Amino acid sequence: MLDSKGFDSWSGTYDQNVRETDESGRYPFAGYDAVLDEIARPLAARPEKGNLLDIGFGTAVLTERLYRAGYTVYGQDFSPKMAALAREKMPGAKLFTGDFTAGLVPELMAARYDAVIATYSLHHLDSRQKVDFLRALLPLINTGGALYIGDVAFRTRAELEACRTAEGDRWDPDEYYFVYDELRKEFPALTFTPFSGCAGLLSLQK
Ligand SMILES: C[S@@+](CC[C@H](N)C(=O)[O-])C[C@H]1O[C@@H](n2cnc3c(N)ncnc32)[C@H](O)[C@@H]1O
Repeated sequence: MLDSKGFDSWSGTYDQNVRETDESGRYPFAGYDAVLDEIARPLAARPEKGNLLDIGFGTAVLTERLYRAGYTVYGQDFSPKMAALAREKMPGAKLFTGDFTAGLVPELMAARYDAVIATYSLHHLDSRQKVDFLRALLPLINTGGALYIGDVAFRTRAELEACRTAEGDRWDPDEYYFVYDELRKEFPALTFTPFSGCAGLLSLQK
């Protein structure tokens, strides 16, 4: 599992690596662009933009689109170098460095959001941590708002295991990918849309 220094080191080549992996249709980023686009389009089309929180915003590939569309952007990421790249693209955003395994920083817990997004970041939480983190997050979302999680995600544990077997040594054993059938037992309003053999969008409207 990469720590903040690992993500610092990756920050300069992240966008290119992800794009190339997505274009080649390979795990873990096959479907990345499609998932991000599926999040960006409806949010950009909303007449009222409001506050948007991005958890693990990285180089702000997605967040920048929504910042330009008019959202007041908040975010948390533990990599100072990722945050520096994101600040260059979004000088007016309220971006904080902090490890989300310890929750959101107090400044972000104090705000309320019309949209919360997390793409390819929350697989650093195990199943129990995901549930606890999402439970703490949902009260921060305004009525009419939405949560979007785009990530390596599967409908069932069997689909995850089939992907693990197919990927062999390429599979990252340190990441905890989403399994929709398991998570929706805790969050019945959650929906799931697959975008490739390994990418999926989990969303929840409040
Ligand atoms: C794979 S990148 C995804 C970046 C971006 N959301 C995207 O879709 O391209 C994961 C991001 O989450 C951040 N991250 C990973 N674990 C984290 C943690 N425990 N706390 C805060 N940020 C974390 C990393 O620094 C990195 O910027």
